[in-house]
Amino acid sequence: MAKRAELAHAKDPVYLCDTFEGVVKAGALDTAYKGGEHADTAQHMVDDLVRRLNLKNVRILKGIFPDETAHLVDSDARFRLCHIDVDVYDSAKDVMAWIWHRMVPGGIVVYDDYGFSVCEGITKYVNEQVDETDRLVLHNLNGHAIVIKTPSLAAAGSAK
Ligand SMILES: C[S@@+](CC[C@H](N)C(=O)[O-])C[C@H]1O[C@@H](n2cnc3c(N)ncnc32)[C@H](O)[C@@H]1O
Repeated sequence: MAKRAELAHAKDPVYLCDTFEGVVKAGALDTAYKGGEHADTAQHMVDDLVRRLNLKNVRILKGIFPDETAHLVDSDARFRLCHIDVDVYDSAKDVMAWIWHRMVPGGIVVYDDYGFSVCEGITKYVNEQVDETDRLVLHNLNGHAIVIKTPSLAAAGSAK
């Protein structure tokens, strides 16, 4: 994504947020998760990749987002794309609560794992958004949900 942003001459940074210690905030809605899953990576591996691709637009935020790292994002930052791949309900909800009013009209939030049997929390959280009047929620059959901030209603300040 960072490479594609660079090729598109986007000037803004690409923030990569991960605990690097696995999944956090698993709860009762996430029956396949306990916390700590997918901890088999490390920041140095991503640093290496960023270096090898010679990417200058990447900022890596290590820790729980937004709780521990949101203060490292530029205070006036606005976003066109947010990819949420956090596996569990509360993490997805907290990320969305932080970013939604920072998304530009027409901006897109992509949820990984939508509809996956082991990620019921993500499916539930996305489904809770379908009646919101400031967004369009699409189910991509590859296991993504796509949420688009609708320009007209967003401009009218109709967010609930
Ligand atoms: C399925 S992995 C995906 C990692 C990466 N997107 C990839 O494709 O390799 C989900 C990761 O999200 C991270 N994660 C979950 N909730 C998070 C949060 N609130 N803040 C930061 N990272 C989080 C965890 O480290 C977990 O390993």
